[in-house]
Amino acid sequence: MGEKVMVLGGTGLVGNALVRAWQAKGCEVSAATYHCHASGGFLQLDMCGEDQVRALLARFRPSLVAVPAANPFVDHCELHPEETRKVNVAGTLNVARACRELGARVIFYSSDYVFDGVKGVYTEEDAVCPINEYGRQKAATEAGVTASDPRNLVLRTSGAYGWQWEPKNFVLQIRKNLSEGKSMRVACDIRYNPTYVENLAEITVALAEAGASGIFHAVGAEEIVRHEFAVRVAKAFGLDAGLLRPAPAAELGSPTPRPKESSLRTDKVRAAIRVQPIGVDEGLRRMLAAEPAWREYARTLPDPAAKTAPARR
Ligand SMILES: NC(=O)c1ccc[n+]([C@@H]2O[C@H](COP(=O)([O-])OP(=O)(O)OC[C@H]3O[C@@H](n4cnc5c(N)ncnc54)[C@H](OP(=O)(O)O)[C@@H]3O)[C@@H](O)[C@H]2O)c1
Repeated sequence: MGEKVMVLGGTGLVGNALVRAWQAKGCEVSAATYHCHASGGFLQLDMCGEDQVRALLARFRPSLVAVPAANPFVDHCELHPEETRKVNVAGTLNVARACRELGARVIFYSSDYVFDGVKGVYTEEDAVCPINEYGRQKAATEAGVTASDPRNLVLRTSGAYGWQWEPKNFVLQIRKNLSEGKSMRVACDIRYNPTYVENLAEITVALAEAGASGIFHAVGAEEIVRHEFAVRVAKAFGLDAGLLRPAPAAELGSPTPRPKESSLRTDKVRAAIRVQPIGVDEGLRRMLAAEPAWREYARTLPDPAAKTAPARR
């Protein structure tokens, strides 16, 4: 039997992959989510409530708590900084404090958006320099989580894609739009490392097993322009890449300044564990091969339509 793990944000893209990866390792896994669900075996938690966080952790006494739970909507963070800081910064630090009291380690998910995107190909040693509110929230939370307990782990990821309970990620959006014959405008001046979420989950599990602490870049092996990535997705899914229209990010209607070149080096993670970051073609190939198993598993999850927000206490 492995570690006793709790995943906060277990219905999310990253969180759900983590739940399955740790379960496959024979770990005892509990998973919480913010919204109330009619079924599905998830616990309910609002990280903003410090007492709730303490009570849930005291009940399950995990040795490791993964926190992919967040409000990850970059534009929403830009427009509503105070509201989103309560979740992304204060909420995560509630978890870090409760974990310190219990002696549990934390794994926090940060982002390439802690950088300004001017230099590119960032290492873990580069100083953070965010240019938007989401990036500032991630940088503040990284600092708080690492200061809370030196055993804590921060994983910076980027452009995560894969099968997802609520199909929100970029690859599933491309698939939906193109299969309906709809065109999409996609940034041709943003370069980053798309990350297959199951690869991120296996990297997380391996780093946790290795007792890794501090900051690691956990992203896909390949840096690519967003439009080029979209074309590779269309080809992998047998869809019409001609429906993808390249456009400068500034013309896509977002209120948020975004780093142009936020690619991350992965040498540190490569040296620490045997599981290695994979590139775009392998990620998409694995995603396609995993579709039947995902469809089977997704039948055990609650209907996203049954999702309701609990009243904030
Ligand atoms: N996806 C990416 O491309 C990407 C890139 C870089 C960094 N990241 C970071 O990686 C992490 C995971 O991202 P993701 O794409 O998996 O996000 P996601 O799919 O939106 O999942 C977020 C999860 O957080 C939960 N949550 C939201 N508010 C909460 C609260 N107040 N208390 C407790 N749980 C709450 C949600 O629960 P409900 O479903 O019940 O609302 C959901 O399970 C985030 O920190 C994100 O910023 C993601």
